[in-house]
Amino acid sequence: MKLLILQHPGHNRVYYNLADKLALAELKLACKRLATTCIHVDIVEIEKVRYLFLESDGDIAESDMKILSRLSFVFAIFIWNQKGNENHLIPIRKDEYEYLNSKICSLLKYPGKTNELFTQMMINVALLSSDYSYDDKIKMLDPVAGKGTTLFAGTTHGFDAYGIELEHKAVHETSIFFKKYLQTERVKHQYSKKQIYGSNKSEAIEIQKFDYALNKADFKSQESVKTLGIVNGHSKNAYKYFKKEKFNMVVGDLPYGIAHGNVKDKKTASKTRNPSDLLHECLPEWTKVLKKGGAVVMAWNSFIINRQQLAKTFAIHGLEVLSDTPYDQFEHMVDKSIKRDIVVARKE
Ligand SMILES: C[S@@+](CC[C@H](N)C(=O)[O-])C[C@H]1O[C@@H](n2cnc3c(N)ncnc32)[C@H](O)[C@@H]1O
Repeated sequence: MKLLILQHPGHNRVYYNLADKLALAELKLACKRLATTCIHVDIVEIEKVRYLFLESDGDIAESDMKILSRLSFVFAIFIWNQKGNENHLIPIRKDEYEYLNSKICSLLKYPGKTNELFTQMMINVALLSSDYSYDDKIKMLDPVAGKGTTLFAGTTHGFDAYGIELEHKAVHETSIFFKKYLQTERVKHQYSKKQIYGSNKSEAIEIQKFDYALNKADFKSQESVKTLGIVNGHSKNAYKYFKKEKFNMVVGDLPYGIAHGNVKDKKTASKTRNPSDLLHECLPEWTKVLKKGGAVVMAWNSFIINRQQLAKTFAIHGLEVLSDTPYDQFEHMVDKSIKRDIVVARKE
């Protein structure tokens, strides 16, 4: 069977123009998890329109559509039949997977925001690289959460999404935005605040939690209620905050030392451009909160530290870095000072 996939027009032309390469890498990764065997994956142009092309040796199963429909770049999927010189494209209905509507990821705009399609891609890469599937009850953590793009992207899949963020203002704005979103969209929810760490008031670290569901019945059931939680704290304390191996994936966009600093010490607010300091400090705890068979995906600026050096940092902390193709295909220019790449590692 031959499929053509039309890419999402995107919200950002710069990202769209470099998205071919990333989309191809994401699709190649998805192929490893499809029930059908992929024979060929490529980019083709038909009547001056670019498509991603996938040829499989059998029909596309329902479970395959679940994976393909969630890929970050997918706008429309067609079966491609060629009759002589004519191209016949038959649209296939995508799996309607969205729990919260994906518009939640693009409503907030601010400097330093991680592109929302790129963020969706990182989440897919993490899931597809783990032992888990979209049918599992997934809990994810963004330990450098900023104003929550990863968390909101997680809610579109119906995942429980938790974040740790050092900056109080960012945490506050994330919480205010999410509360307003749930109210405006009339999503049943309950907000709570609870101390999770620290023996005295000055050390107290709290988690702000939203439990929510699309209807009353789901809201009453432990199984179907969803959670978004955010902690204003330091990521090196992830295990102290969460206390168990609970996450299927850890996904985030590391500080670039440009719009955001990698703040090593809250009091002196000293900033370093090198993410490996932050990783050395935090990876032991991120590994502890990650379940076996779970994956870590982090984006970073490869102008500052190269892939081999970064991979070494992950390996030192006992994670298995995935480096075969397509994992080496995600590097791309964002602007003059940022060449972004992702590192993917598993807990075995
Ligand atoms: C590149 S930004 C993430 C942006 C986020 N993905 C978004 O779209 O809003 C990195 C974030 O990491 C935070 N950060 C830096 N060091 C941290 C630490 N040790 N613990 C928690 N957060 C930290 C910074 O304050 C910044 O908000």
